[in-house]
Parts: sequence; structure tokens; C-alpha cells
Amino acid sequence: MRTERRDFIRACVATAATVSPARAIAAAVAAQPADRLGRIEAFAFDAYGTLFDVFSVTALCEELFPGDGRALAQVWRVKQLQYSLLRSLMGRHKDFWQVTQDALSYAAKSLELDLTAARRDRLMEAYLTLAAFPDVRPGLESLKSQGVKLAILSNGEPRMLQAAAASAGIDTLLDAIISVEDVKIFKVSPRVYQLGLERLEVGRTGLGFVSSNSWDINGAASAGLTTFWIQRNAAEPPEELGFAADRVVSAITDLPPLVRG
Ligand code: LAC
Repeated sequence: MRTERRDFIRACVATAATVSPARAIAAAVAAQPADRLGRIEAFAFDAYGTLFDVFSVTALCEELFPGDGRALAQVWRVKQLQYSLLRSLMGRHKDFWQVTQDALSYAAKSLELDLTAARRDRLMEAYLTLAAFPDVRPGLESLKSQGVKLAILSNGEPRMLQAAAASAGIDTLLDAIISVEDVKIFKVSPRVYQLGLERLEVGRTGLGFVSSNSWDINGAASAGLTTFWIQRNAAEPPEELGFAADRVVSAITDLPPLVRG
């Protein structure tokens, strides 16, 4: 029975990447509203999936568990986000490092993998040095040269965010690293997005929130922020939550022309 379950999970992961790109692009372009943006004084960036590639740990997953690396990485990420949402609804906060570790434990058990303490620690340590996407550093440097304040606004806890930013060589470009640990509740709580406004001391129209996670964009837009969806996967349609992004782009390097002047 458990083997069938593992095969089912593997099949789901294999199918997930086969959504038709044409339909997704049409949906994303349709989301571009005609109205002009306000003058953006600061950008707050989601971290995991937007700045840092959470699937850059897949190679290590595959090294430790040959044949199951991709499935482990996929289930790990899904559970990490699901646990953050469930803990917020339950009112039972734990920091994102612990949530990420709990999600890894579940993912390994669901695939019947032997996650020893040594393997667990290696995978968790890898979360401190995730690869940044290639557009991140040039995009941030360009925005910085335009005088825009730059911050991370993330579920991550301060230590893991600082480590990832330093490892990616972008820490010196950031004016702030803002963690939900300041409010002890995860995204999509409006309190998280409000934190960005408070910490960066800009008005609602002056703050642009940037994320590759469409659910995160909906949360920020619902809280009244100006939002920029980095649609990193053209096959991924926007979430059906009713709060479309103000702009949809495919890379952070597409942002500077939108804020010029
Ligand atoms: C973050 C996760 C949700 O960085 O991507 O907040």
C-alpha cells in the first residue's frame, strides 16, 4: 500500500510540469491592468522562489536519495508552504526553519526514505546557501542605481534569510531584511505585508511587492500593496483568488523600466 502511495506521489510530481504554456501566458497578460503605477520608492521581495531557487537543493536530494531527489524536493516545498499556512490558521506559530525541517521529515516519510540525522542536517544546511536566480543580482543592482530602497519580506526567520542573502552576495544591496518573526504569523496574513510598509517607511502606493508565488501576490494585493508577479514558469497560470498582480514580468531585470521617471 505504502509503495503505491509513493508511486502516486512520483506520478503527481511528473505530471505537474506539463501545463500548457500558451494558456498560462494568455491568462497572465490579461492580468496586466491599463492604469499607471504610482512612484515606487521601495521594493520588498519574497525570498524563496523569487530571489532564491528552492529547487537548487534537488541535486543534493538526488545525491542522497538516487531516483527520488526530484519528488523529495517537490513534496518538501509543498509541505513547507502548507505547514506555514496551517500553523497560521491554527494560531500555533513555529519559525520557518522548524517548519521547513518538519516538512522535510514528512516528505521523506511519504516517499519511504531513510532520513538520518546526518542527511537531514545536510539538506537543512543547504537551505542557508540556496542559489540565487541569475536575474536577481543584476536586477537588484539596477534598481539600487535608480535610488529605490530594497528589502526582503519573507516567511524566513532572520538567521536563514541573512545567511542566504550573504551566500548569494546580495546582502550589501539590501536596505532591510524583514521577517515574519516580527509578527509571529506567516503570509498571507495582512499583518505581514503591513510590516513592509512600516519598516520601509513608505506609503501604500510607494511600496512594490515582488514575488514569484502567485498566492503571495494575491495576499499582498489583498492587503492593498502594488504587486509585481515574477512569472518564472510560463506554464504557471495566476492563482484564482481574485487579486491579480498590477504587473506580470518574467524576471527581476524587467522591473527597472517600470519604475523609471
Ligand atoms: C517566503 C516564502 C513564502 O520567502 O517564499 O516568504
